[in-house]
Amino acid sequence: MREFLSRFPSFGSICPTAPAGAGARFHLSDWPVGHAPEPNLVGDQRVDVSSGGSSSDDKSRFTRARGGGYHKSVLLEEVTHYLQPGPGMLFLDGTLGGGGHSEQMLRLGAKVIGLDQDPAALSFARARLEKYRDNFGAIQGNFREFGELLETVGISGLDGILLDLGISSRQVDDADRGFSFSKPGPLDMRMDPDSEVTAAELVNSCEEAELARIFYQYGEERASRRIARAIVERREVEPFECTTDLAGLVASLRPRRGKAHPATRVFQALRIAVNNELRALEEAPAEVPRWLRPGGRLVIISFHSLEDRIVKSFLRRCSQPRLDRPEWPEPRPNPEHYFKLVMQKGLAPSNEEIKTNPRARSARLRVAERLPTAVAKPD
Ligand SMILES: C[S@@+](CC[C@H](N)C(=O)[O-])C[C@H]1O[C@@H](n2cnc3c(N)ncnc32)[C@H](O)[C@@H]1O
Repeated sequence: MREFLSRFPSFGSICPTAPAGAGARFHLSDWPVGHAPEPNLVGDQRVDVSSGGSSSDDKSRFTRARGGGYHKSVLLEEVTHYLQPGPGMLFLDGTLGGGGHSEQMLRLGAKVIGLDQDPAALSFARARLEKYRDNFGAIQGNFREFGELLETVGISGLDGILLDLGISSRQVDDADRGFSFSKPGPLDMRMDPDSEVTAAELVNSCEEAELARIFYQYGEERASRRIARAIVERREVEPFECTTDLAGLVASLRPRRGKAHPATRVFQALRIAVNNELRALEEAPAEVPRWLRPGGRLVIISFHSLEDRIVKSFLRRCSQPRLDRPEWPEPRPNPEHYFKLVMQKGLAPSNEEIKTNPRARSARLRVAERLPTAVAKPD
């Protein structure tokens, strides 16, 4: 574990997570016509979405292919409104998930490259989007490496990029993935099942101070130290293996306030640590200016304040025409002035959307438009 941690200096003593993108796999055989070096349209799992057969099996296949039950896309209309997808345009969906946002773009005639680090999400989305195969390609990998992945398949520019952060409902609902505190399952939480560290490994081997820091920094959990101490005491007797086992311990230490389960923050923190989520979000946007064509838009949906803070600060930094510092005689042009903010504040879902999809309630959407400024060369 120590050797593993030392590869992530900026995390200090926090137990970090698998190197994002380790084991990224390409599925060039699914590449779309027009943007691929070698178009070949064979997917690895096919579902005929054009036929909603009458048997219940056919029906469930059809529902699955339409995204029913997998994940209800958040802020779908708003994303479509701000990205304005249409024929002749190419978009990157960096968090493909169940493919709901991608489907909307494809339906409007755009081409889409979908990226997800979870192979199960890719299989589902490929099947769902099969009828758009001429315009759709899917790659397994981490969006923090999207530039390299796009280069590998010969893409040179994009008309828009979407990042719909976090995990899908399917990932939460599938007890075997270990994201849920309400269903017994292995304490796993890896979006990419080939990444190195599971939540159980963190919980059973991180030092107490490291655990407390994870819970505090990634979960904003006030009882972080108390919970970390109890975990360390308990694991000496019996290591944690099961989600509800950990959730039960946290619940015994922390009274329920409001509707949220007492273990919500601890589970969020572990998930962020296991998947190195904030690091991916810090690194990916830096690549965006190089890939977005002038007028192209970056749309990011975040689900908690830690994510939104990173997005907001990146967009603020890259949307100021001039920079000023007390030691400078006058303001200077900002070499990273790449974007115009399309909205000043994050956009929340409507009450109607929250009513039909309570998981959307914490979503915030931010949008920026690429200016024609050239990308500054590194010093
Ligand atoms: C909220 S879901 C996306 C749902 C999708 N927009 C839809 O409409 O169905 C987020 C997805 O992004 C994936 N994901 C999260 N972080 C990622 C990362 N750094 N790189 C690649 N995929 C990521 C997750 O595995 C999950 O499938």
